[in-house]
Amino acid sequence: MSIIRVHDKEFGPYLGEELIDGKIQAIADAMNRDYADKKPLFIAILNGAFMFASDLFKKITIEAEISFIKLASYKGTKSSGQVITAIGLDTDLHGRHVVIVEDIVDTGKTLSEFLPQLEHQQPASLKIAALLHKPEATVYPIAVDYLGFSVPNKFLLGYGLDYDGLGRNIPSIYQLVE
Ligand code: IMP
Ligand code: MG
Repeated sequence: MSIIRVHDKEFGPYLGEELIDGKIQAIADAMNRDYADKKPLFIAILNGAFMFASDLFKKITIEAEISFIKLASYKGTKSSGQVITAIGLDTDLHGRHVVIVEDIVDTGKTLSEFLPQLEHQQPASLKIAALLHKPEATVYPIAVDYLGFSVPNKFLLGYGLDYDGLGRNIPSIYQLVE
C-alpha cells in the first residue's frame, strides 16, 4: 500500500482491511449478544455507511432487519437554517429496537438533528453504531454506543467515505496527507 491521489489531494494508508474486519466482528459479537430475541431494526444512512452496514449485517447471526435511508437537508423556514429529513424511512419504529448505522460521526450535527425525529416515533430503544468517530471535531455531542475507531480530526477516504464523490470503493481507509 502506498500514497494514492484523488482529485487534487494525496492520501496515505491508515486503517487496513483486516483491522477493519476484526473491529466489525467485535461490534457484531456484542450486538448478537445485546439484541438476541429483540429482532433489532438496523437503519443505515446512505451513502457513506453502505459498506460498513453490509459487512456488519453479514456478521449478525440473530433475527434482524435492515433498512437504508438517505438524509437530505434543505433550508427550513426557521432562522435556524438547515432542516434534515429522512428519505425512505418506511418502517414504523414504534416499539422497535433501532440501531442507527453511520460511517462516521464528525461534528455530530447530522445525528443530533435526526435522532429527535426518530425518538418522536417512540422506539423501544435507539442506539448508534459508527465505524469512525472524530471526538476532536465534536460540536454536537453524540453518544456512540458501538464504535469501531476513534480517530484524529483529519479527513479520511475509502470504505464508503468519499472525497467529492470519489474513493468510496477503496476497501480500506486512507488519511489525507497534509
Ligand atoms: P457530521 O454531521 O459533522 O457528524 O458529519 C457526518 C458526515 O460527514 C458523515 O456521515 C460523512 O458523510 C461526512 N464526513 C465527515 N468526516 C468525513 C471524512 O473524514 N471523510 C469523508 N466524509 C466525512
Ligand atoms: Mg454519512
